[in-house]
Amino acid sequence: ASLELGPYSHFMQKEIHEQPKALSDTIDAVQDYGFNPELFGERAGEVLPQLEGVKILACGTSYYAGLTAKYWIETIAGVQCDVEIASEYRYRSAWANPNYLVTTISQSGETLDTMEALKYAKELGHRYALSICNVRESAIPRASELVFFTRAGAEIGVASTKAFTTQLVGLFALAVTLGKMRGKVSAADEARYLDELRHLPGSVQHALNLEPQIKAWSDKFAAKDNALFLGRGLHFPIALEGALKLKEISYIHAEAYPAGELKHGPLALVDEDMPVVVIAPNDALLEKVKSNMQEVRARGGELFVFADLDSHFSESDGVHVIRTPRHVGVLSPVVHAIPVQMLAYHVALARGTDVDKPRNLAKSVTVE
Ligand code: G6P
Repeated sequence: ASLELGPYSHFMQKEIHEQPKALSDTIDAVQDYGFNPELFGERAGEVLPQLEGVKILACGTSYYAGLTAKYWIETIAGVQCDVEIASEYRYRSAWANPNYLVTTISQSGETLDTMEALKYAKELGHRYALSICNVRESAIPRASELVFFTRAGAEIGVASTKAFTTQLVGLFALAVTLGKMRGKVSAADEARYLDELRHLPGSVQHALNLEPQIKAWSDKFAAKDNALFLGRGLHFPIALEGALKLKEISYIHAEAYPAGELKHGPLALVDEDMPVVVIAPNDALLEKVKSNMQEVRARGGELFVFADLDSHFSESDGVHVIRTPRHVGVLSPVVHAIPVQMLAYHVALARGTDVDKPRNLAKSVTVE
């Protein structure tokens, strides 16, 4: 291994394990400013009070960060939030409210589709743009009035990991800041959200400690051709991210569904050969997820469940359970991103693929 890799075998593995540090560095930025407009740049104090909604544009893993943010922005801030795939948005005649804050999410700051979507949004009349980005000297933040830089450090593995979880921190801070400005977040709520952020790197470290158990699962996946990921609510985007990671680096075909949609199609695919990964933290939808799991079991599908300590799941025939850290509330998607990243990593290792440079993919897609 090269000097840069230290004890790790791949950049992806190193970057997965750097997440507690990347998160706490990014959370430091939030602590420095508090949930105040200045966190998003000098002009934010003037821009944010005028906004009537948020329009998120992104690609790939960054798009899934956007889907998670929609839940936070609508529930915490009470602000309407649309999320669109940049390459789709840029080619349709979209409706634009000038006072919707265009928010791009991009690790590299150079993704062509995201950059072009931003330009198009400006042409359509959107007045202001916010860039959530990990690279300071890049094109997208330069073209945006407002900016939040994630502090993940250089990300080398093609499949994004630490950039994703730090983007989530920036987006969560946006939701709380907007909520505060609109009187939806009280001083007590604000203190609680800050406290939850401070505990996040520790919970992520706990999740990283699950690696041996996840590695033990990976052999079962390595021989499969397909996998299904289920989640609901805030955790549906994490199911999407888990499926994307598995596709990208292990080349196993994977799909993600919000668990309530099972009965509208994917249940037809379930048999003994279809492993079903379930993100099942103890949130308001847990009982619904449990009944979705019974539907899978009844068709012979083998379940691989990530459930937190409070979910009270036990192992049984065809039901494997890994216990994630105690439920951390609205930041739970950040914690649950970790096991799905590690699962993809170890399945890819078991299949012998080139983890850091998967075939046909590029780290930064600057062409169409
Ligand atoms: C490529 C990378 C992905 C990344 C996506 C968006 O497809 O392989 O990991 O999520 O681009 O990149 P960005 O730099 O805009 O976040």
